[in-house]
Amino acid sequence: DTKTPSLYGAYRGIFNIGAAVGTRSIRREREFIAAHYNSLTAENQMKFEEIHPEEQRYDFDAADEIVKFAEQNGMAVRGHTLVWHNQTPDWVFEDENGAPASRGLVLERLESHAYAVMGRYRGRIHAWDVVNEAVEDKKESYLRDTKWLSTVGEDYLEQAFRIAHKADPSASLFYNDYNETDPVKRDKIYRLVRSLLDAGAPVHGIGMQGHWNLHGPSIGEIREAIELYASLGVRLHITELDISAFAFDDRRSDLPAPTEEMQNLLAQRYDDIFRLFRDYRSVIDSVTFWGAADSHTWLDNFPVRGRLNWPLPFDRELKPKPAFWRIVEHSAGS
Ligand code: G3I
Repeated sequence: DTKTPSLYGAYRGIFNIGAAVGTRSIRREREFIAAHYNSLTAENQMKFEEIHPEEQRYDFDAADEIVKFAEQNGMAVRGHTLVWHNQTPDWVFEDENGAPASRGLVLERLESHAYAVMGRYRGRIHAWDVVNEAVEDKKESYLRDTKWLSTVGEDYLEQAFRIAHKADPSASLFYNDYNETDPVKRDKIYRLVRSLLDAGAPVHGIGMQGHWNLHGPSIGEIREAIELYASLGVRLHITELDISAFAFDDRRSDLPAPTEEMQNLLAQRYDDIFRLFRDYRSVIDSVTFWGAADSHTWLDNFPVRGRLNWPLPFDRELKPKPAFWRIVEHSAGS
Protein backbone atom coordinates (compact mmCIF):
# COMPACT_ATOMS: atom_id res chain seq x y z
CA ASP A 1 0.00 0.00 0.00
CA THR A 2 1.26 3.48 -0.75
CA LYS A 3 0.56 5.20 2.59
CA THR A 4 2.98 3.11 4.69
CA PRO A 5 6.50 4.57 4.49
CA SER A 6 9.37 2.18 3.75
CA LEU A 7 11.19 1.13 6.93
CA TYR A 8 14.64 1.09 5.27
CA GLY A 9 13.76 4.24 3.32
CA ALA A 10 13.18 6.03 6.61
CA TYR A 11 16.72 5.12 7.69
CA ARG A 12 18.47 5.79 4.37
CA GLY A 13 21.80 7.41 5.18
CA ILE A 14 21.70 6.26 8.82
CA PHE A 15 22.04 2.47 8.69
CA ASN A 16 20.70 -0.49 6.68
CA ILE A 17 17.52 -2.16 7.88
CA GLY A 18 17.56 -5.95 7.42
CA ALA A 19 15.54 -9.10 8.02
CA ALA A 20 16.42 -12.77 8.45
CA VAL A 21 14.43 -14.72 5.88
CA GLY A 22 13.99 -18.20 4.42
CA THR A 23 12.92 -19.19 0.92
CA ARG A 24 9.29 -19.56 2.05
CA SER A 25 9.03 -15.97 3.24
CA ILE A 26 10.74 -14.48 0.16
CA ARG A 27 8.29 -16.41 -2.05
CA ARG A 28 5.16 -15.49 -0.06
CA GLU A 29 6.10 -11.99 1.09
CA ARG A 30 8.46 -10.77 -1.64
CA GLU A 31 6.86 -7.35 -2.26
CA PHE A 32 6.56 -6.65 1.47
CA ILE A 33 10.17 -7.64 2.17
CA ALA A 34 11.50 -5.60 -0.79
CA ALA A 35 9.46 -2.58 0.37
CA HIS A 36 10.79 -2.48 3.94
CA TYR A 37 14.26 -4.08 4.04
CA ASN A 38 17.51 -3.33 2.20
CA SER A 39 19.56 -6.12 3.78
CA LEU A 40 18.89 -9.85 4.12
CA THR A 41 20.32 -12.65 6.25
CA ALA A 42 19.53 -16.30 5.48
CA GLU A 43 17.85 -17.53 8.68
CA ASN A 44 19.14 -21.12 8.21
CA GLN A 45 20.10 -21.69 4.57
CA MET A 46 23.80 -20.76 4.81
CA LYS A 47 24.45 -22.72 7.99
CA PHE A 48 26.90 -25.62 7.75
CA GLU A 49 24.28 -28.41 8.06
CA GLU A 50 22.04 -26.90 5.39
CA ILE A 51 24.59 -25.85 2.78
CA HIS A 52 27.18 -28.64 3.29
CA PRO A 53 25.30 -31.63 4.75
CA GLU A 54 27.88 -34.24 3.72
CA GLU A 55 31.59 -33.87 3.12
CA GLN A 56 31.23 -34.39 -0.65
CA ARG A 57 27.85 -32.66 -1.03
CA TYR A 58 26.90 -28.98 -1.03
CA ASP A 59 23.34 -27.73 -1.45
CA PHE A 60 23.38 -24.10 -2.56
CA ASP A 61 19.85 -23.88 -4.01
CA ALA A 62 18.14 -22.14 -1.10
CA ALA A 63 21.04 -19.79 -0.41
CA ASP A 64 21.30 -18.96 -4.14
CA GLU A 65 17.58 -18.12 -4.21
CA ILE A 66 17.93 -15.74 -1.27
CA VAL A 67 21.04 -14.03 -2.68
CA LYS A 68 19.40 -13.73 -6.12
CA PHE A 69 16.28 -12.16 -4.57
CA ALA A 70 18.46 -9.70 -2.64
CA GLU A 71 20.41 -8.71 -5.75
CA GLN A 72 17.22 -8.29 -7.82
CA ASN A 73 15.99 -5.86 -5.15
CA GLY A 74 19.23 -3.99 -4.51
CA MET A 75 19.65 -5.45 -1.03
CA ALA A 76 22.87 -6.14 0.89
CA VAL A 77 23.39 -9.69 2.19
CA ARG A 78 24.91 -10.76 5.53
CA GLY A 79 26.36 -14.29 5.57
CA HIS A 80 25.35 -16.40 8.58
CA THR A 81 27.34 -18.39 9.79
CA LEU A 82 30.56 -20.35 9.27
CA VAL A 83 31.54 -21.60 12.75
CA TRP A 84 28.85 -22.40 15.32
CA HIS A 85 28.26 -25.23 17.81
CA ASN A 86 24.68 -25.59 16.49
CA GLN A 87 23.56 -26.86 13.08
CA THR A 88 27.01 -28.18 12.18
CA PRO A 89 27.01 -31.79 10.92
CA ASP A 90 28.85 -34.41 13.00
CA TRP A 91 31.01 -35.50 10.04
CA VAL A 92 33.01 -32.27 10.37
CA PHE A 93 34.48 -33.45 13.67
CA GLU A 94 34.92 -37.19 12.99
CA ASP A 95 37.67 -39.12 11.19
CA GLU A 96 36.93 -42.10 8.92
CA ASN A 97 36.59 -44.35 11.96
CA GLY A 98 34.12 -42.05 13.72
CA ALA A 99 36.76 -40.99 16.25
CA PRO A 100 37.37 -37.27 16.93
CA ALA A 101 39.09 -35.72 13.91
CA SER A 102 42.54 -34.16 14.33
CA ARG A 103 43.09 -30.39 14.52
CA GLY A 104 44.59 -30.45 11.04
CA LEU A 105 41.67 -32.35 9.50
CA VAL A 106 39.02 -30.06 11.04
CA LEU A 107 40.89 -26.93 9.89
CA GLU A 108 41.31 -28.44 6.40
CA ARG A 109 37.55 -29.07 6.27
CA LEU A 110 36.75 -25.56 7.52
CA GLU A 111 39.05 -24.11 4.87
CA SER A 112 37.41 -26.04 2.00
CA HIS A 113 33.95 -25.14 3.39
CA ALA A 114 34.84 -21.45 3.62
CA TYR A 115 36.40 -21.40 0.14
CA ALA A 116 33.36 -23.13 -1.36
CA VAL A 117 30.70 -21.06 0.41
CA MET A 118 32.32 -17.62 0.77
CA GLY A 119 34.01 -18.09 -2.59
CA ARG A 120 30.66 -18.69 -4.29
CA TYR A 121 29.32 -15.35 -3.03
CA ARG A 122 32.58 -13.40 -3.11
CA GLY A 123 31.81 -9.72 -3.65
CA ARG A 124 28.07 -10.39 -3.23
CA ILE A 125 27.97 -10.96 0.56
CA HIS A 126 29.58 -7.93 2.20
CA ALA A 127 29.66 -9.19 5.80
CA TRP A 128 29.90 -12.65 7.39
CA ASP A 129 29.21 -13.89 10.91
CA VAL A 130 32.42 -15.92 10.89
CA VAL A 131 32.04 -17.25 14.45
CA ASN A 132 28.70 -17.35 16.28
CA GLU A 133 28.14 -17.70 20.07
CA ALA A 134 31.60 -18.93 21.14
CA VAL A 135 31.44 -17.33 24.63
CA GLU A 136 29.95 -19.33 27.50
CA ASP A 137 26.79 -18.00 29.17
CA LYS A 138 27.59 -19.55 32.54
CA LYS A 139 29.30 -17.04 34.80
CA GLU A 140 32.47 -18.95 35.66
CA SER A 141 33.81 -20.11 32.27
CA TYR A 142 35.08 -18.22 29.23
CA LEU A 143 34.79 -20.10 25.91
CA ARG A 144 31.78 -22.38 25.31
CA ASP A 145 32.89 -26.03 25.35
CA THR A 146 32.20 -26.98 21.70
CA LYS A 147 33.58 -29.53 19.24
CA TRP A 148 35.40 -26.66 17.51
CA LEU A 149 37.23 -25.96 20.78
CA SER A 150 37.89 -29.59 21.67
CA THR A 151 39.18 -30.61 18.21
CA VAL A 152 41.05 -27.49 17.07
CA GLY A 153 41.93 -25.83 20.37
CA GLU A 154 41.68 -22.33 21.83
CA ASP A 155 42.89 -20.65 18.64
CA TYR A 156 40.01 -21.98 16.51
CA LEU A 157 38.48 -18.52 16.38
CA GLU A 158 41.69 -16.88 15.16
CA GLN A 159 42.09 -19.64 12.54
CA ALA A 160 38.45 -19.20 11.43
CA PHE A 161 38.87 -15.46 10.86
CA ARG A 162 42.16 -15.95 8.98
CA ILE A 163 40.58 -18.62 6.76
CA ALA A 164 37.52 -16.44 6.11
CA HIS A 165 39.69 -13.49 5.12
CA LYS A 166 41.58 -15.63 2.59
CA ALA A 167 38.27 -17.01 1.25
CA ASP A 168 36.86 -13.54 0.63
CA PRO A 169 39.24 -10.62 1.27
CA SER A 170 36.44 -8.17 0.38
CA ALA A 171 34.07 -9.27 3.15
CA SER A 172 33.76 -7.67 6.60
CA LEU A 173 34.21 -10.39 9.20
CA PHE A 174 32.10 -10.40 12.37
CA TYR A 175 32.01 -12.13 15.72
CA ASN A 176 28.28 -12.59 16.57
CA ASP A 177 26.68 -13.36 19.97
CA TYR A 178 23.56 -13.02 22.16
CA ASN A 179 23.12 -11.90 25.79
CA GLU A 180 25.72 -9.44 24.57
CA THR A 181 24.61 -6.73 27.03
CA ASP A 182 24.84 -8.86 30.17
CA PRO A 183 27.81 -7.26 31.98
CA VAL A 184 29.60 -10.59 32.68
CA LYS A 185 29.17 -12.00 29.17
CA ARG A 186 29.77 -8.57 27.63
CA ASP A 187 33.21 -8.39 29.26
CA LYS A 188 34.05 -11.90 28.00
CA ILE A 189 33.06 -10.94 24.44
CA TYR A 190 35.21 -7.82 24.75
CA ARG A 191 38.14 -9.91 26.06
CA LEU A 192 37.74 -12.39 23.19
CA VAL A 193 37.62 -9.80 20.40
CA ARG A 194 40.42 -7.83 22.07
CA SER A 195 42.61 -10.96 22.08
CA LEU A 196 41.78 -11.74 18.44
CA LEU A 197 42.70 -8.19 17.39
CA ASP A 198 45.93 -8.38 19.45
CA ALA A 199 46.78 -11.62 17.62
CA GLY A 200 46.32 -9.77 14.32
CA ALA A 201 43.20 -11.73 13.35
CA PRO A 202 41.06 -9.92 10.70
CA VAL A 203 38.02 -9.15 12.88
CA HIS A 204 36.15 -6.16 11.48
CA GLY A 205 33.00 -6.12 13.58
CA ILE A 206 30.88 -7.41 16.41
CA GLY A 207 27.34 -8.65 15.78
CA MET A 208 25.05 -7.85 18.71
CA GLN A 209 22.17 -10.27 18.15
CA GLY A 210 19.63 -8.23 20.10
CA HIS A 211 17.27 -11.04 21.16
CA TRP A 212 15.73 -8.84 23.83
CA ASN A 213 12.34 -8.72 25.52
CA LEU A 214 9.78 -6.31 26.94
CA HIS A 215 11.56 -6.10 30.29
CA GLY A 216 15.27 -6.20 29.49
CA PRO A 217 18.04 -5.40 28.90
CA SER A 218 17.90 -1.79 30.10
CA ILE A 219 18.79 1.01 27.72
CA GLY A 220 21.76 1.69 30.01
CA GLU A 221 23.05 -1.87 29.59
CA ILE A 222 22.67 -1.69 25.80
CA ARG A 223 24.47 1.65 25.73
CA GLU A 224 27.34 0.34 27.88
CA ALA A 225 27.78 -2.67 25.61
CA ILE A 226 27.75 -0.51 22.45
CA GLU A 227 30.32 1.84 23.99
CA LEU A 228 32.59 -1.01 25.14
CA TYR A 229 32.51 -2.88 21.80
CA ALA A 230 32.95 0.33 19.82
CA SER A 231 36.05 1.13 21.92
CA LEU A 232 37.75 -1.78 20.11
CA GLY A 233 37.59 0.22 16.90
CA VAL A 234 35.33 -2.33 15.17
CA ARG A 235 32.02 -1.83 13.36
CA LEU A 236 28.75 -2.90 15.04
CA HIS A 237 25.83 -4.71 13.42
CA ILE A 238 22.61 -5.41 15.30
CA THR A 239 22.11 -8.82 13.72
CA GLU A 240 18.98 -10.59 15.10
CA LEU A 241 16.72 -8.01 16.72
CA ASP A 242 13.39 -9.07 18.16
CA ILE A 243 11.57 -8.02 21.33
CA SER A 244 9.94 -11.07 22.89
CA ALA A 245 6.81 -10.73 25.02
CA PHE A 246 8.42 -12.92 27.68
CA ALA A 247 11.87 -13.57 29.17
CA PHE A 248 13.65 -16.75 28.00
CA ASP A 249 13.15 -18.41 31.37
CA ASP A 250 9.36 -17.90 31.18
CA ARG A 251 7.98 -21.29 30.16
CA ARG A 252 4.27 -20.54 30.68
CA SER A 253 2.34 -22.17 27.87
CA ASP A 254 -0.34 -19.49 27.83
CA LEU A 255 1.19 -16.30 26.50
CA PRO A 256 -0.74 -13.12 27.19
CA ALA A 257 -2.52 -12.09 23.98
CA PRO A 258 -1.08 -9.02 22.22
CA THR A 259 -3.43 -6.66 24.03
CA GLU A 260 -3.39 -2.96 23.19
CA GLU A 261 -1.44 -2.34 26.39
CA MET A 262 1.19 -4.96 25.46
CA GLN A 263 1.45 -3.56 21.93
CA ASN A 264 2.08 -0.10 23.35
CA LEU A 265 4.71 -1.55 25.71
CA LEU A 266 6.40 -3.10 22.64
CA ALA A 267 6.16 0.20 20.77
CA GLN A 268 7.81 2.00 23.67
CA ARG A 269 10.64 -0.55 23.80
CA TYR A 270 11.33 -0.16 20.06
CA ASP A 271 11.06 3.62 20.45
CA ASP A 272 13.73 3.67 23.19
CA ILE A 273 15.99 1.19 21.39
CA PHE A 274 15.93 2.91 17.99
CA ARG A 275 16.49 6.28 19.64
CA LEU A 276 19.65 4.74 21.13
CA PHE A 277 20.73 3.12 17.84
CA ARG A 278 20.37 6.44 16.08
CA ASP A 279 22.63 8.06 18.71
CA TYR A 280 25.30 5.47 17.76
CA ARG A 281 24.81 5.70 13.98
CA SER A 282 28.54 6.46 13.63
CA VAL A 283 29.43 2.86 14.65
CA ILE A 284 26.23 0.91 13.84
CA ASP A 285 26.08 0.03 10.12
CA SER A 286 22.94 -2.12 10.08
CA VAL A 287 20.00 -3.24 12.17
CA THR A 288 18.61 -6.63 11.16
CA PHE A 289 15.40 -8.09 12.58
CA TRP A 290 15.28 -11.85 13.07
CA GLY A 291 12.24 -12.34 10.85
CA ALA A 292 10.46 -9.87 8.54
CA ALA A 293 7.11 -9.93 10.38
CA ASP A 294 5.28 -11.84 13.16
CA SER A 295 4.12 -14.22 10.40
CA HIS A 296 7.42 -16.06 10.88
CA THR A 297 9.44 -15.82 14.09
CA TRP A 298 11.60 -18.47 15.74
CA LEU A 299 10.03 -17.31 19.02
CA ASP A 300 6.81 -19.15 18.12
CA ASN A 301 8.84 -22.26 19.03
CA PHE A 302 11.29 -21.01 21.66
CA PRO A 303 11.39 -21.60 24.53
CA VAL A 304 7.92 -23.20 24.25
CA ARG A 305 7.09 -24.94 20.95
CA GLY A 306 3.91 -23.57 19.43
CA ARG A 307 3.45 -20.66 21.88
CA LEU A 308 2.76 -17.71 19.60
CA ASN A 309 4.82 -14.54 20.00
CA TRP A 310 4.66 -11.13 18.35
CA PRO A 311 8.17 -9.61 18.59
CA LEU A 312 8.46 -7.64 15.34
CA PRO A 313 7.24 -4.26 13.96
CA PHE A 314 4.80 -5.96 11.51
CA ASP A 315 1.97 -8.30 12.50
CA ARG A 316 1.03 -11.72 11.09
CA GLU A 317 -0.81 -10.06 8.22
CA LEU A 318 2.33 -7.97 7.45
CA LYS A 319 0.54 -4.82 8.68
CA PRO A 320 2.54 -2.16 10.55
CA LYS A 321 2.09 -2.22 14.36
CA PRO A 322 2.33 0.77 16.71
CA ALA A 323 6.03 -0.21 17.07
CA PHE A 324 6.58 0.36 13.34
CA TRP A 325 5.33 3.95 13.50
CA ARG A 326 7.53 4.69 16.51
CA ILE A 327 10.62 3.27 14.75
CA VAL A 328 9.90 5.36 11.66
CA GLU A 329 9.47 8.47 13.82
CA HIS A 330 13.16 8.18 14.85
CA SER A 331 14.35 8.05 11.30
CA ALA A 332 16.56 10.49 9.44
CA GLY A 333 14.01 13.27 9.19
CA SER A 334 12.79 13.75 12.75
O1 G3I B 1 15.46 -28.66 8.30
C1 G3I B 1 14.78 -29.45 9.29
C2 G3I B 1 13.64 -30.21 8.62
O2 G3I B 1 14.18 -31.13 7.70
C3 G3I B 1 12.82 -30.92 9.71
O3 G3I B 1 11.70 -31.55 9.10
C4 G3I B 1 12.35 -29.90 10.72
C5 G3I B 1 11.50 -30.52 11.82
O4 G3I B 1 12.34 -31.03 12.82
O5 G3I B 1 13.50 -29.29 11.33
C6 G3I B 1 14.23 -28.55 10.37
O6 G3I B 1 15.34 -27.96 11.00
C7 G3I B 1 14.97 -26.84 11.80
C8 G3I B 1 15.78 -25.63 11.30
O7 G3I B 1 15.53 -24.50 12.15
C9 G3I B 1 15.42 -25.26 9.86
O8 G3I B 1 14.07 -24.90 9.79
C10 G3I B 1 15.36 -27.15 13.24
O9 G3I B 1 14.49 -28.15 13.72
C11 G3I B 1 15.20 -25.90 14.09
O10 G3I B 1 15.73 -26.13 15.38
C12 G3I B 1 16.00 -24.75 13.48
O11 G3I B 1 15.78 -23.60 14.27
C13 G3I B 1 16.62 -22.51 13.93
C14 G3I B 1 17.61 -22.27 15.09
O12 G3I B 1 18.42 -21.11 14.82
C15 G3I B 1 18.49 -23.47 15.27
O13 G3I B 1 19.30 -23.26 16.38
C16 G3I B 1 15.75 -21.28 13.77
O14 G3I B 1 14.94 -21.44 12.60
C17 G3I B 1 16.62 -20.03 13.62
O15 G3I B 1 15.81 -18.86 13.65
C18 G3I B 1 17.62 -19.94 14.77
O16 G3I B 1 18.45 -18.82 14.54
C19 G3I B 1 19.48 -18.62 15.53
C20 G3I B 1 20.65 -17.96 14.82
O17 G3I B 1 21.08 -18.77 13.75
C21 G3I B 1 21.79 -17.70 15.80
N1 G3I B 1 21.32 -16.89 16.93
C22 G3I B 1 20.16 -17.47 17.63
C23 G3I B 1 19.01 -17.66 16.64
C24 G3I B 1 17.79 -18.19 17.37
O18 G3I B 1 18.07 -19.47 17.91
